[in-house]
Amino acid sequence: MQIQEAIEKRRSIRHYVDKKIKEEDIARILKAGTLAPSAHNKQPWFIHVVENQKTKEQIADILMQKEDESIKNTARIMKEASVLFIIFEEKTDLSVKMQHQSIGAFMENMCLEATELGIGSLWIGHILEVEKEIKELFHEKRKVACALALGYTEVNPSPRPRKNLKDMIQIHDDEEEVE
Ligand SMILES: Cc1cc2nc3c(=O)[nH]c(=O)nc-3n(C[C@H](O)[C@H](O)[C@H](O)COP(=O)(O)O)c2cc1C
Repeated sequence: MQIQEAIEKRRSIRHYVDKKIKEEDIARILKAGTLAPSAHNKQPWFIHVVENQKTKEQIADILMQKEDESIKNTARIMKEASVLFIIFEEKTDLSVKMQHQSIGAFMENMCLEATELGIGSLWIGHILEVEKEIKELFHEKRKVACALALGYTEVNPSPRPRKNLKDMIQIHDDEEEVE
């Protein structure tokens, strides 16, 4: 698959079938993440790879405690996924913005590699709503960054709408310089 195709095909997948992802594919997805750029090459991420169903359910149960229906839906998805990556922030001397941009690059590389392998993915921010409980569950001192759900799917969601490019850019060409 060409990179353009993976970029266009990637979707947030919220329904997974009961089929295990091969260890070698999990390794390929992680490897793609590690090849992402990061500020000063600090690679400020640490990942708990959760394949164990009981642990997935413990994470989902924590999220289920929240009133918000969209958080409960994310919990259901996490339980259904074949594998969950819980991404923590490795402590560095990077600024918060540099740290988070680096983790964003790491995440997107993994989503694209999963697409290439025919595996669905969901980037999960809702895990931040239960950071304290997740740190306790994993006996972690590191901060929670986000999570990634991975699994095979039978759904094929249509692309979500995107803003028009013209509404988000300002071109500074030879005729239009910054005053
Ligand atoms: C930082 C970040 C956090 C997100 N958190 C969640 C989440 O907790 N639950 C969820 O269902 N989707 C989550 N998403 C997925 C977005 O809703 C999705 O990317 C967006 O609606 C565009 O759809 P698409 O990914 O299919 O193009 C998150 C995406 C990002 C980048």
